[in-house]
Amino acid sequence: MQEQRSGNGRSGAIHRARSVWRTVSGLAAAGAVVAFSVFAPPVPAQTATAPGTIPATLPPLRDAPLPDRVELGFLLYNDLNISANRNTGCVTCHAHSAGFTDPRSAADPVGMPVSPGSVPGKYGVRNAQTAAYATFSPPFHWDEQNQTYVGGQFWDGRADSLKDQAVGPPLNPLEMAMPGKEAVLERLAENPVYLEAFRRLYGVDLKWPQVDLVYPKFGAAIGSFEPTDEFAEFNSKYDYYVAGQIDLTPQEKLGLQLFNGKAKCNNCHTSEPPPNYPHALFTDFTYDNLGLPVNPRIAELHGVDSLPPDLGLGGRPDIAAKHPDGSQNGKFKVSTLRNIEVTPPYGHNGVFATLEQIVHFYNTRDTLGEVADAADPGFGVTGWPKPEVPENVNKAELGNLGLTAEEEAAIVAFLKTLTDDAFDETDLENHEGEAPLHR
Ligand code: HEC
Ligand code: HEC
Repeated sequence: MQEQRSGNGRSGAIHRARSVWRTVSGLAAAGAVVAFSVFAPPVPAQTATAPGTIPATLPPLRDAPLPDRVELGFLLYNDLNISANRNTGCVTCHAHSAGFTDPRSAADPVGMPVSPGSVPGKYGVRNAQTAAYATFSPPFHWDEQNQTYVGGQFWDGRADSLKDQAVGPPLNPLEMAMPGKEAVLERLAENPVYLEAFRRLYGVDLKWPQVDLVYPKFGAAIGSFEPTDEFAEFNSKYDYYVAGQIDLTPQEKLGLQLFNGKAKCNNCHTSEPPPNYPHALFTDFTYDNLGLPVNPRIAELHGVDSLPPDLGLGGRPDIAAKHPDGSQNGKFKVSTLRNIEVTPPYGHNGVFATLEQIVHFYNTRDTLGEVADAADPGFGVTGWPKPEVPENVNKAELGNLGLTAEEEAAIVAFLKTLTDDAFDETDLENHEGEAPLHR
């Protein structure tokens, strides 16, 4: 899967992203999208045609540019119309400004650890993951050698691929809350650009009654946009460091050393690039129970006293059936740490508001005292609450790392070098061929 990616255009190991943004804004600037909806003749109603063929009644080709699959995916990703109240799209919970997580949670990590949905008063039950670098997760599978599940999309890996993942949110009542696939396709068919693009690019008509044939093409289009460089910029300060174009501060270097050594972070958040690929992904896509405590704020947002424990991987009916011993309970997918500085809160339930807090948890989970819950003022200061799922907690690699306060701070400083867009493009242009750059 790594080999499919063509890597970067120029500038050594550093990506130049934004290609789709440029092309699509080009399309919009050329008046394509607007012209389609304003000046295009109405598209004649289609009668049902054999699935997979382009109906003979298709209007003649137009001169105006049409999006390709990637650009169509971009438009769909950013479209708020595909939600019950036309107010929520993928971009709402996965925005570039927040490292492709929910900017509302990033701005208020304690009050809003989970995302508000399209319907007022509805909230999700898990912290929105980053959609960046998600394309690198292999299909969900059991690794016999290491006796662990690996890969998939979502905290529990329940979708195999990005195109399988993308068909879920529009129909999730806590997210985009559309009543059904048909309703989604009706919304899409309101846009003449979409109507023609789906016909031309996927050979399906949004107005066909065979919704099970047509709806997956929505996921396919988004699934062709998400593997683009937009979602995998690899242009953090750390990438410049690895490319030999900049030096890290002594504190950041100490953090990197601890990350790969005493603090054991590298055991799961791999800092070496995978085989045949130039860039580290900071996850091995395996699953673990870190012993995260309940985040009581989620129940509060749902207006209830408590929610049933989130068993993660073990809560999937298929996994529960295969492992009746509960050996997968409480396990969640290892997250990438790229852009982690801009994606608070942390953990599948967002129980940690800051990087300092989660690093302190890794260091002292088993050595600090105990407090009642995460709302306790002593949370992370005098103690940690019990784990939400007590089975399978990883005691071997975390919980008592013996790090000093300075060492914890160094790890946090290192994590902050993983934020993309470390330098803007003009910086790069101005310094092309020069080394090293300094911030
Ligand atoms: C209301 C907020 C919300 C909306 C809207 C939303 N997502 Fe998500 N997204 C989440 C949450 C929460 C998770 C984690 C859910 C889980 O694990 O159960 C997630 C997980 C993901 C993941 C998995 C990442 C990984 O590393 O496993 C991808 C990819 C993703 N979303 C893409 C999308 C796309 C594409 C859309 C639009 C079709 C979308 N999301 C709409 C909140 C949202
Ligand atoms: C044994 C494997 C393992 C080790 C070792 C490990 N992590 Fe993690 N990390 C995980 C898993 C699994 C998750 C997601 C767990 C969850 O949310 O329940 C995670 C989540 C995180 C998150 C939150 C990610 C997000 O998107 O919310 C941060 C930050 C993090 N780890 C940093 C570190 C640091 C720093 C270290 C070293 C001190 C470290 N990890 C060591 C497995 C590990």
